[in-house]
Amino acid sequence: MIEPFVRLLRGKRLDEQRPYVIGNCARASPDEDAASKLRTATRRSAAKGYNMFNSSLGDRRWSRRGSKGVQVNNLRNCRIGVIGLGYVGLPLAVEFGKHFDTVGFDINARRIQALKAGRDATLEVSSTELAAARRLSFTGELADLKVCRTHIVTVPTPIDTYKRPDLSPLIGASTSVGKVLKKGGVVIYESTVYPGCTEEICVPILERESGLRFNRDFFVGYSPERINPGDKEHRLPTIKKVTSGSTPEAAEFVDALYRSIVTAGTHRASSIKVAEAAKVIENTQRDVNIALVNELALIFARLGIDTEEVLKAAGSKWNFLPFRPGLVGGHCIGVDPYYLTHKAQEIGYHPEMILAGRRLNDSMPTYVAGEIVKLMTRKRIHVNGARAIVFGITFKENCPDIRNSKVVDVVRELQNYGVHVDVHDPWADPSECKHEYGIRLTRAPKARHYDAAVIAVAHREFRERGVKEVHGMCRRNHVLYDIKHTFPASEVDGRL
Ligand SMILES: NC(=O)c1ccc[n+]([C@@H]2O[C@H](COP(=O)([O-])OP(=O)(O)OC[C@H]3O[C@@H](n4cnc5c(N)ncnc54)[C@H](O)[C@@H]3O)[C@@H](O)[C@H]2O)c1
Repeated sequence: MIEPFVRLLRGKRLDEQRPYVIGNCARASPDEDAASKLRTATRRSAAKGYNMFNSSLGDRRWSRRGSKGVQVNNLRNCRIGVIGLGYVGLPLAVEFGKHFDTVGFDINARRIQALKAGRDATLEVSSTELAAARRLSFTGELADLKVCRTHIVTVPTPIDTYKRPDLSPLIGASTSVGKVLKKGGVVIYESTVYPGCTEEICVPILERESGLRFNRDFFVGYSPERINPGDKEHRLPTIKKVTSGSTPEAAEFVDALYRSIVTAGTHRASSIKVAEAAKVIENTQRDVNIALVNELALIFARLGIDTEEVLKAAGSKWNFLPFRPGLVGGHCIGVDPYYLTHKAQEIGYHPEMILAGRRLNDSMPTYVAGEIVKLMTRKRIHVNGARAIVFGITFKENCPDIRNSKVVDVVRELQNYGVHVDVHDPWADPSECKHEYGIRLTRAPKARHYDAAVIAVAHREFRERGVKEVHGMCRRNHVLYDIKHTFPASEVDGRL
C-alpha cells in the first residue's frame, strides 16, 4: 500500500518529494489499486482503534482524525535519533545522516568526543565517511534527542555471568527515549532480543516514561541489524533488512525509512515478534552449525584425519554447508542463542540442541589448550615454565572487537598449565585488553624466544608475515598450533 510512495522516493531526492497525504492518496497517486489498498488499511486501523499513521512525505496537509488525532511521523521532516553508537549504531547513523537530520546519542562520553573529532575506534566508519554524513551530529545530552520523532535503539544486549539476557542497556535506553518521546513518535529497536522482548519489556517503559499510549500516541518497530564487523563487502546498504511495526502503518513507515538507505531492499515481517525471532535464529543456526563442525574436528583429531581436508572434500557437493571449526566468541553468535533459550525456558520448553551446541562451542578453548600441551609433551618441551606466544585476541579477524573473546580462555588454560603466555594483536586496543582481561599485549614478539606459538585469529597481517616469521620467533624445538587454518597443514604441528 505504500508502493506509490516508495516509487516516488526512489525516483527523487527526498527533499524534492511532494507532500503526500494518506487520506488523499487516491488523488495523489496514479496507482488506483494501491490507493484503494491504503484506504482499506486505514479503515481497518481505525476500526482497531489505531490512530492513523502518516507515511506521507509531507505533513502540512495532514488532516487530524478527531481530537485524539496524532500528527504522525513522516519521512520528509523525519529527524532521527540513534541511541547507542557502537558497531551497529554508528554505521546506521552515518547512512541516515546523509539524507536526514540525525542525532547520534551515546552515554559513553569518550566515544562521543572521538566521533566529534572524526575518529571511530571500531574502525567500521572512516573519517571521510563520517564527514560525508553532513546531517549527522553527536551528543551525550539526552535533551538533544527532543527534536527527533523517530528513535532507533542500537544498544548492546549481552548476557550476565549466568548466561541469562542482560537487558539493562535496553531498559536504560528505553527509559531515556521515553523521556523525550513525543506524540506520533516511532521507536525502532535494532538490538538483538528474544521474540516478545520489544513489546513486553520496552513498550511498557516507553509508556511509563512518556505518559503516552502505545499504538495510539506512539508506535514501535523492530528491524534487526545484520552487519558483519570487519566485512567491507557486506555493508549496511547492501544487506537486505528485515522490518516490522506495531501497526500496519507503523510497519510501512519503518519499511519505507529503511528502504531509503538500504539499496538491497527490505523484507517486511508480519509482526515484531516474527522479526525478533528471525534475527535470533540467524545466529543460533550459525552457532549450531559451527558446533557440529567443531564436534567433527574432535572426532577427526582422534582418527588422525585433517578436518580441513575432509571439509574440502565434502564441500565439493553442491549443498554441503561451508562451516569451519573454531572458537565462537564475540557479541552475537555465542550470545544470541541464550536469548532464545531463555525465552523458551520461560514458556516451559527446555531446548536441547541449541544448548548442546553452546556447550560444545564453549568447551573448545579447553580442548585447544589441551592439544597444545599434548604436542609440547610429545616434543619433550617442559610445559610448566614454558613460553608461548598467541597471535590474535580479537573475537574475529581484521576487527578490533575483543568482547567475549574465547582466545582469552585459551590463554587462561595455558596459564593454568604453568605456561607464560604473551599475546600479540595489531588490531586490539592495548588499554582495552588490559582493562577487560588484565592482559598486557606484546607489541613486538622477540625472535627465537618461544616454546609454542598459537595462531588464534587469522588477521591479514599474520597471513602476510607468513609462517616462516612465526617459526623464527620460536626456539629450535617448538610447537606451532593453528586454530584458524591460516597456514598449510604441512607447516604446523597441529590445527583444529
Ligand atoms: N556487532 C555486531 O556485529 C552486531 C551485528 C548485528 C546485531 N548486533 C546487535 O546490535 C546491538 C548493538 O551491538 P553493538 O555491537 O553495536 O554494541 P556496541 O557495544 O558496539 O555499541 C553499543 C553502544 O551503545 C552505548 N550504550 C549502552 N547503553 C546505552 C544507553 N542506555 N543509551 C545510549 N547509549 C548506550 C554504548 O556506550 C556503546 O557505544 C546488540 O544487540 C547486538 O547483538 C550486533
